[in-house]
Amino acid sequence: MSKYRVATSGDVEVSTYLEIAKEKGGEQPIPTPSPTPGAERETVVVIDFGSQYSMLIVRRVRECQVYCELVPYDTPWERIAPLHPRGFILSGGPASVYDPGAPLAPDWVYESGLPLLGICYGMHVIIHQLGGRIAKGTKREYGHATLNQSADSPLFAYLPFSMPVWMSHGDQIVELPPGFTTIAYTENSPTAAISNDKGVFGLQFHPEVAHTPQGKTILKNFLYNICGCQGNWTSGSFITESIDSIKQQVGKGKVICALSGGVDSTVAATLVHRAIGDHLTCIFVNNGLLRQEEPQRIFDTYRRHFENLVYVDASERFLRRLKGVVDPELKRHLIGEEFIRVFEEEAAKIGKVDFLVQGTLYPDVIESTTSETKASARIKTHHNVGGLPSQMTLSLLEPLRYLFKDEVREVGLALGLPEDTVWRQPFPGPGLAIRIIGEVTKERLETLRACDWILMNEIKKANLYRQLWQSFMVLTDVQSVGVMGDYRTYGYLVAVRAVTSEDAMTADWAHLPYELLAQISSRIVNEVPEVNRVVYDISSKPPATIEWE
Ligand code: XMP
Repeated sequence: MSKYRVATSGDVEVSTYLEIAKEKGGEQPIPTPSPTPGAERETVVVIDFGSQYSMLIVRRVRECQVYCELVPYDTPWERIAPLHPRGFILSGGPASVYDPGAPLAPDWVYESGLPLLGICYGMHVIIHQLGGRIAKGTKREYGHATLNQSADSPLFAYLPFSMPVWMSHGDQIVELPPGFTTIAYTENSPTAAISNDKGVFGLQFHPEVAHTPQGKTILKNFLYNICGCQGNWTSGSFITESIDSIKQQVGKGKVICALSGGVDSTVAATLVHRAIGDHLTCIFVNNGLLRQEEPQRIFDTYRRHFENLVYVDASERFLRRLKGVVDPELKRHLIGEEFIRVFEEEAAKIGKVDFLVQGTLYPDVIESTTSETKASARIKTHHNVGGLPSQMTLSLLEPLRYLFKDEVREVGLALGLPEDTVWRQPFPGPGLAIRIIGEVTKERLETLRACDWILMNEIKKANLYRQLWQSFMVLTDVQSVGVMGDYRTYGYLVAVRAVTSEDAMTADWAHLPYELLAQISSRIVNEVPEVNRVVYDISSKPPATIEWE
């Protein structure tokens, strides 16, 4: 059995951890190291070759409390050096190393001498660039396989001799580069994992996916055993670092922030407020398209957290702009434009301002750095509240630029924000306007609000609110015949929409219990006179989208 140790475990031998693991039923055998307070941030960089799992690798590494960034394979060293990386991971990708123009790792990856882990195509890249040979495979191999260790490796510490893994590859390894040995095999792949004695490793399978149940242990081994990380990246360390860097960036400048009631803008503004106090002014525009009682509740929360808060009730203005408009993209455009006008008017009253806070998250950053190479059709224009006003020359302050949504929520909780703010389901900038099919009027908004109130009430009562990515009502422009008592009715059709999702890129319709649906439907038709029919939307994304417009 291996005698490798966990980087911060002092002198406790592996066997001790194995005992602990056995006592705990064998799950997560490596204890997370206890971070040293105030220690320098540890970063591992994932080099992206275009795998659908690249972002997942980043998430897994961060789950091990090691900060991680995803960068395109042709990123220059000057962009990487300031991160002081502890190691690199080469992602998988769709190419074959012998394809003309196949992406390869930059020289700095090898010249740095830092630990390196190649996953799938990433392993082929290492073999190809370090003098081994890959042959173009005739068939691709996907799916479950059993991995068997053939050498004692720190990458497999705490793991059993055989374990299930998820394979996906086309090309075959014919010859290893000098200094490399095979450390594991499967029935179909005589070389399923490799290493040399300089801290370079390659895996033919994907440790980052759920289908490789012990994959997280392999990643922890790489991070803690091989890169020597301590796992010191936590919400607390993130907050401390952010506050310092915001202070430095802003100096004596003035900052404004548009608050929408959503978790991203609230957490971003709270961080900035912690750093610079009353140099920050927050503007909360009520566009009249929020849900029942929401403007008041959001305002009350903000009043407790921000010194300089401007509240603008612009409901009438927005409604006037939307008069007669039925096209969803035009609604978005007009709402976005009107928002910027209101925001600029209010900002002008504050005097000279230097920075604008935006709640941009990491998936948007990655999307914008890779979108030049990816052809994708525009489905909807997502005008977010807080878009950069056209006439103002402001520098952007984006304190959440490197966080995923779940990390933002953790930071929000660590900052002491209320749970209902932190766990609020995402709500679109154009609000209820894109949940009303056809024209948005005061009356139709009231009808939708009444339905939505009942839905929220019932979903929360059933304890399902947090499990759902989003749950809301849609008011359609379809009217249908019904009967109530002895009377014929001609009322509106509304739809219940409830989805589960990780990031809104894809979503499944939620399998809400029939009893709950029955209760929602019965309450809506009884309590909202304009509605006589309720349907449940059972479409997933794709091919549908989450919102109806
Ligand atoms: P779709 O409907 O495209 O929505 O599946 C994906 C996610 O984005 C939200 N969404 C918007 N958010 N402005 C926003 O700020 C918009 O115009 C907008 N349209 C959709 C939607 O609620 C879901 O979370």
